[in-house]
Amino acid sequence: MDRVLVTGAAGGIGTRLRTLLKGIYPDTRWSDLKTPADLAPDERFIQADLAAMNEVEKAVDGVQGIVHLGGFSVEGPWDTILNANIIGCYNLFEAARKAGVERIVFASSNHAVGFYPRQRRIGTDDAVRPDSRYGASKAFGEALAALYAYKHGLRVTCLRIGNFGDAPVDKRRLSIWLAPQDLVQLIRIGLEHPDLRHEIFYGASDNARAFWDNSAAFRYGYRPQGRAEDHAAAALAADAKLPPDRIGEWYQGGPYCSDEFDGGIERAPV
Ligand SMILES: NC(=O)c1ccc[n+]([C@@H]2O[C@H](COP(=O)([O-])OP(=O)(O)OC[C@H]3O[C@@H](n4cnc5c(N)ncnc54)[C@H](O)[C@@H]3O)[C@@H](O)[C@H]2O)c1
Repeated sequence: MDRVLVTGAAGGIGTRLRTLLKGIYPDTRWSDLKTPADLAPDERFIQADLAAMNEVEKAVDGVQGIVHLGGFSVEGPWDTILNANIIGCYNLFEAARKAGVERIVFASSNHAVGFYPRQRRIGTDDAVRPDSRYGASKAFGEALAALYAYKHGLRVTCLRIGNFGDAPVDKRRLSIWLAPQDLVQLIRIGLEHPDLRHEIFYGASDNARAFWDNSAAFRYGYRPQGRAEDHAAAALAADAKLPPDRIGEWYQGGPYCSDEFDGGIERAPV
């Protein structure tokens, strides 16, 4: 794997990856709607709107692998989600197929399954339960991943990212935290593992309070290094200062579940 495209280069994760992936893939190009403010002279950047097929075709031309981070990364109005995450994701997969791209790592989200109760441990065979228009768009991306893997022969990995950051910052994030170096490990499995055809992994570190069974990732050699419990005292102290959210605290998706929720906690399936 030499020639790699990373979309979403100007975003929070893309910005960190521009340092963390340096030197791993000899010919890495970066793309986004907007030029990263801190773009280094040796970084190759292509501006592309994911919603414009002709721009996406130019961005993917000649690459072997894609890390697809670009898109609208929180809940938003339908038109925004539709353009960036539904049309944008379709354009990315379809342009990749036409260009003969071999592998895609798709940044999915825990919000594709946010409406599972926290007390239920889920794997990657449980049906999606999106908690937002955003989460539904990630479920759509996961469906495209399966289509392009099984019908068109791409090798595709969906990473249901929990919360990316240097440390988990509250109680929920003790369960879903993803350390930067662990994301790099998962991306490398997706771009390099010889046996991989189509997989869904949880983008989560070594979290003792995990909501998820990540054995699919472990089977491919994933060995997370970030230990959420090392940050438990600070995270729980910060959590104690948050306003109560009975619906959000019940479900894995947290505030994405209570936002726009019709009804009260009596509707949560106890
Ligand atoms: N950060 C997390 O903890 C987390 C958790 C779950 C999933 N994810 C997913 O990982 C990816 C990266 O997350 P992030 O935190 O860096 O998000 P971010 O919002 O910081 O970055 C997303 C980038 O996508 C670009 N983008 C948006 N619409 C676009 C379009 N139409 N065309 C081209 N580029 C467009 C934005 O300009 C932005 O730079 C996202 O897909 C997000 O949904 C992130």
